[in-house]
Amino acid sequence: MTAAGSRATAPSDAPAFPQDRTCPYAPPAGYADVAAGGPVTRVTLYDGSLVWAVTGHAEARAVLADQRFSSDRQDPHFPVVVPRAEQQATIRTPLLGVDDPRHAEERRPLIPHFGHRTIAALRPRIQEIVDGLIDTMLAEGPGAELVSAYSLPVPSMVICHLLGVPYADHEYFEARSRELLASITADDAVRARNALLDYLRRLVEDKQRQPGGPGPGLLGELIEQGRKNGGTDRDQLVLIALILLVAGHETTSNMIALGTYTLLRHPDQLAALRADPALMPGAVEELLRYLTIADALVRVATEDVELGGHTIRAGDGVVVVPSLANRDTAVYPGPETLDVRRSARHHLAFGFGPHQCLGQNLARAEMEIALSTLFARIPTLRLAVGPDELPAKPGGTLQGLYSLPVTW
Ligand code: HEM
Repeated sequence: MTAAGSRATAPSDAPAFPQDRTCPYAPPAGYADVAAGGPVTRVTLYDGSLVWAVTGHAEARAVLADQRFSSDRQDPHFPVVVPRAEQQATIRTPLLGVDDPRHAEERRPLIPHFGHRTIAALRPRIQEIVDGLIDTMLAEGPGAELVSAYSLPVPSMVICHLLGVPYADHEYFEARSRELLASITADDAVRARNALLDYLRRLVEDKQRQPGGPGPGLLGELIEQGRKNGGTDRDQLVLIALILLVAGHETTSNMIALGTYTLLRHPDQLAALRADPALMPGAVEELLRYLTIADALVRVATEDVELGGHTIRAGDGVVVVPSLANRDTAVYPGPETLDVRRSARHHLAFGFGPHQCLGQNLARAEMEIALSTLFARIPTLRLAVGPDELPAKPGGTLQGLYSLPVTW
């Protein structure tokens, strides 16, 4: 076994990572070769470097909970999984790119804003947003493109409401967010990131200058909190705002569109949900497991670690592959089957350990309300194009659909 370090290259027949999905709701066919390597194996990145791929459920949890696997994207050994990600080393990414104890300090003040109680109180507002969008679709239909008419505006409006970002600016920040998460080159990603940072810096400055206080929303509260603690670190606040705004809408939008598509392609499961709406919370967990839209959680080892019969050396790159861990037969019998009645708890679609998704309660509430209301209010909803006409987004980006034409 080599102790190559993540950037080392070697002639290798280790499978390529990431790969593209052909079916939008199933892992790429070539990931069978990755899984065949065992729960801890090697994959080859686009630049020829070798990293560890962790595909077993228990091993994935072990990595994600272990601080010897660092999230510091500025570590020179941190693996660059796609060319776009080269930009990550040029800036300190709060939360996602920081290790404890600093990470915990950054996360602590945000936790209550995404806790069960806060999100439960937000549900009527989410329902109102969802109903308003469906009213518009029904008035303009029959027929709609569901990503632009529904799956994107739902989480986008909700995160604007929660943060205190004007939804009127949505076209601007949605387009830049997409570029940041899905552009090919690092230069394009940096341009998009800087545009978003400039936008949010202006917004925070406006709020700070507002005579009656910064106004409603989490950004205003963080400004106030900072003032009380002797001054806001504006740059840090702007970076956190960037993560919350981007993570807050692109992820859930993909889940709502892909979840709708997947249920339409599994009519027996949709019928079960229609017959018993109380199944919806469990169905959301199963969809999260089955679809696993964030399919590469990247780390770098800071010490030698024994895992799955291998020695992962300090400096080695590690990629946890949640779509494979979420199909580990030791935890999920018959994992290729979508089963809304299964207990999909402990899936890794939101990650695990200290970086586990901060917005998961919010995402769950949005998915539950968006999916149940859509199928209840438009019972004859169906695809308006053949399923093969809907390409999956490329590997190395959040998985999902570019568009979802439907009719009723
Ligand atoms: C279904 C939708 C979502 C999925 C699948 C998802 C997935 C994830 C995953 C896998 C991680 C862990 C990354 C890692 O370990 O490297 C994560 C972290 C995070 N997510 Fe989400 N997410 C979703 C929705 C949201 C929403 C709505 C927000 C709201 C703002 C959000 C905010 C965050 C933040 C701030 C982190 C970083 C947490 C930390 O590092 O402490 N996410 N998410």
